[in-house]
Amino acid sequence: MTTRIPATLIPGDGIGPEIVDATLAALEALGAPFEWDRQIAGLEGVTVANDPLPKATLDSIRRTRLALKGPLETPSGGGYRSSNVRLREEFKLYANLRPARTVVPGGRFDDIDLVVVRENLEGLYIGHEHYVQIDDDPHAVAMATGINTRAGCRRILEFAFEHAVATGRKKVTVVHKANIMKALTGIFKETAEQMYEERYHGRFQFETVIVDACAMKLVLNPWQFDMLVTTNLFGDILSDLVAGLVGGLGMAPGANIGADAAIFEAVHGSAPDIAGQGKANPVALMLAAAQMLEHVKLNDLARRLRQGIGATLNIDNVRTGDLGGRASTGEFTQALLRRLKA
Ligand code: NAI
Repeated sequence: MTTRIPATLIPGDGIGPEIVDATLAALEALGAPFEWDRQIAGLEGVTVANDPLPKATLDSIRRTRLALKGPLETPSGGGYRSSNVRLREEFKLYANLRPARTVVPGGRFDDIDLVVVRENLEGLYIGHEHYVQIDDDPHAVAMATGINTRAGCRRILEFAFEHAVATGRKKVTVVHKANIMKALTGIFKETAEQMYEERYHGRFQFETVIVDACAMKLVLNPWQFDMLVTTNLFGDILSDLVAGLVGGLGMAPGANIGADAAIFEAVHGSAPDIAGQGKANPVALMLAAAQMLEHVKLNDLARRLRQGIGATLNIDNVRTGDLGGRASTGEFTQALLRRLKA
């Protein structure tokens, strides 16, 4: 008998429950051995437990160290902090892993197979910001502090380099802006160069590139890249850019991996404009589930899930509205289940 794998499930807000149900149906059809502990967060957390990240949800992830989550809304007003940011901090989810692969051919760029590794906890996103008042203007000056540590750089670079070796990536590109932010991003570049020379030389090709040049090169010729690794702010921007190369956020999964847990999600939000209408594309969350299967070393199931999604979209031509099709979330899921069970 296969060992059951305890995992936390957070359906989330808006289209979350619809795409989570679709993803669970696909995982069940594959016989994935997850033992789900269903928890709440986001708007649902506020409504039910008066907290967007209730203690029971945190306790569950602390126990399982593994979660699949739908998108979470941060209620505006009420002074709530983003649940996603809190989850990252709470479980030290320092690595954000965003693969971008062409699933539907015929878009602007075909045959894309890229991965962006983003540092998730440091840099300019640490929230050390303030205004300085001058005369009667309270916002006369705005200031932000970024912090990158040697240990933080090493941790994310080691994650990226090990992932590159384990998944057979040929080239790793370190993205920085050390010509201007000499200390803040210089430390990242310098640490990467040292680590490559000391421990990874020859195991993959290594290059460094300045972030603005990288953005242009990605749009002109994305095939020259294989894996990008970079600091928080640049990673945030570039990972959305590469999602755009393969058909947008409806197709983009993401993994947040850290010392204490790993949380898998779709990159898009709760899409309140289409929630409850059966129009949502569940593929991004399903691809996140494929990442989760790989994380627990069920590579064969991940491969079958990706192949099934590809066949449903491209051979059966069953697609949701965002991909130009007419299928509902349920119709897409049923077509996928037929593929997975075939
Ligand atoms: P959004 O990603 O929810 O929606 C942007 C547009 O894309 C909308 O037109 C939506 O209908 C469409 N869309 C998104 N996902 C889709 C899917 N799977 N299938 C078909 N169409 C899809 O971004 P928005 O509107 O800025 O954010 C809505 C809420 O989601 C906000 O409260 C935001 O804070 C939250 N959010 C949560 C995230 C998370 O939990 N990881 C990430 C991004 C936003």
